[in-house]
Amino acid sequence: MPVELKSSEDIEKMRIAGGLAAAQLEMIEPYVVPGITTGELDRICHEFTINEQDAIPAPLNYRGFPKSICTSVNHVVCHGIPSDDKVLKDGDIVNIDVTPIKDGFHGDSSKTFMVGKPSVLAERLIRICQECLYRGINMVKPGAHLGDIGHAIQAHAEKHHYSVVREYCGHGIGRIFHDDPQVLHYGSLGTGIKLEPGMIFTIEPMINVGKRDVKVLPDEWTVVTKDHKLTAQWEHTILVTDTGYEILTYRSDDTIEKYT
Ligand code: MF3
Ligand code: CO
Ligand code: CO
Repeated sequence: MPVELKSSEDIEKMRIAGGLAAAQLEMIEPYVVPGITTGELDRICHEFTINEQDAIPAPLNYRGFPKSICTSVNHVVCHGIPSDDKVLKDGDIVNIDVTPIKDGFHGDSSKTFMVGKPSVLAERLIRICQECLYRGINMVKPGAHLGDIGHAIQAHAEKHHYSVVREYCGHGIGRIFHDDPQVLHYGSLGTGIKLEPGMIFTIEPMINVGKRDVKVLPDEWTVVTKDHKLTAQWEHTILVTDTGYEILTYRSDDTIEKYT
């Protein structure tokens, strides 16, 4: 399928949806402390999306997903289902993935938070995973190839002896939650489609301390590492501009330029 190039009107709506995703992750941060449940984090984000943002949480009922955000703790790679039984404890790490829909457009972003005081191992994994995202974003400009993004992510992860999850990837996004193209987090320079101004897609690397293999639990959503070792993920929604990129889900805690 050809990749849609967004109109300037669509881009403006994606800026708004992306801004709401960023605002949710900034809002939830002070709540991510030992003793809270992932079910409570879901309720807080749900209420904020509906009541404060006048937006719709895309995950809720998406292909049967039962909650409004994904909360993936420790060895959970992605698509963790929030639960009132899952109490966060000191030293845990949790990825919170939010996708508000505003005026028909989706903003998709996630961040891995540290709960209380993390281990040295966890802190390092989270940092290198964010660097992987940033290195992928830095490849985005007109004329670059999709494979350049995956290559940059894979090279950085493997340099640190981490592995890249292959089963899940970034995606085109707009009125459709998961659209073309597929944005792989591994690959070779110069492969894949050429990027053009007006393309919008996510980059969302999942990086494992151990082996790359994953499995889906019987709930048919929760994805875990087969070796039960730690995993992290960070995600932004990115616009290809005439000069480079614009991060549509940019937050105040980001440590990369918003535009190039
Ligand atoms: N937000 C996820 C992504 O980055 C998708 C979650 S789908 C759900 O693509 F159904 F699990 F919510
Ligand atoms: Co996504
Ligand atoms: Co997401």
